[in-house]
Amino acid sequence: MGKVIAIVNQKGGVGKTTTSINLAASLGVLGKKVLMIDLDPQGNATTGVGVDKGDISSSIYEVLTMKSSIEGSIIKTKSQNLSLIPAYLNLAGVDMELIELEKKAKEKGYSFNRVTRLKDEILKIKDNYDYILIDCPPSLGILTTNALAAANSVLIPVQCEYFALEGIMQLINTIMLAQRKVNPNLEIEGVLLTMFSNTNLGVEVIESIKGFFKERVYNTIIPRLVRLAEAPSHGKPILEYEPRNKGTIAYLNLAKEVINRNGTEEEGTR
Ligand SMILES: Nc1ncnc2c1ncn2[C@@H]1O[C@H](COP(=O)(O)OP(=O)(O)OP(=O)(O)O)[C@@H](O)[C@H]1O
Ligand SMILES: [Mg+2]
Repeated sequence: MGKVIAIVNQKGGVGKTTTSINLAASLGVLGKKVLMIDLDPQGNATTGVGVDKGDISSSIYEVLTMKSSIEGSIIKTKSQNLSLIPAYLNLAGVDMELIELEKKAKEKGYSFNRVTRLKDEILKIKDNYDYILIDCPPSLGILTTNALAAANSVLIPVQCEYFALEGIMQLINTIMLAQRKVNPNLEIEGVLLTMFSNTNLGVEVIESIKGFFKERVYNTIIPRLVRLAEAPSHGKPILEYEPRNKGTIAYLNLAKEVINRNGTEEEGTR
């Protein structure tokens, strides 16, 4: 049974997508079968693994609104063991449509729950993967709520900057609400420090985040690196764009930590 991990932080630009792409690719290289679901209308995870938005015939939007099957919306990427359900801009209007579909279902007497839509679909394919990573948008709206309902756990990237913990209480409250309402077993997978620069401020921020999240914080810290920012424009995870880069090593180390926390040994190439 695959493990579903939602990469969540409603704060924008903290490294959710960079982490989704590079953790997914790293798990793939370590021999795990991985599906990445792009749940952000910006579609950055989609283009970041080299999928051209113009070539998409079905995306997560069609899956959520019952226009396509989930099986038929999965694309194999060029990366080892990595498949993708893409997203593009039409996903932005999905909330109103889900409300309409739920209303219609009630009238006609079949079951449709707009909060568990993603979960209900993922259940059909979960067994085919070791890990399913969901790249969430920077908001706590219906898309993120769907991710929290569908996930076994959340991975929270936190940018090493002065206001790092701003908004974290709101995120924790949302996770607790999801636990109470739809997903009692939802766990915090881990907290990942991203875009670290070795300055006094960077070090102070790490201390305060570790003080707050304790052992949930990964030992691996992702440094701020130009190559990590460049790689998506070439449609490649960092390990393909620049295999010897520090960013490649960092995300491979993160993948190993994720695998170890989940109690299985990594296999495949190293
Ligand atoms: N470790 C890093 N070093 C340098 N640049 C980075 C790093 N991680 C992310 N970036 C850059 O910072 C920006 C934000 O990163 P990313 O898109 O991963 O964040 P996000 O949380 O997904 O953003 P959004 O909330 O808009 O979805 C991007 O331009 C990305 O290339
Ligand atoms: Mg993003």
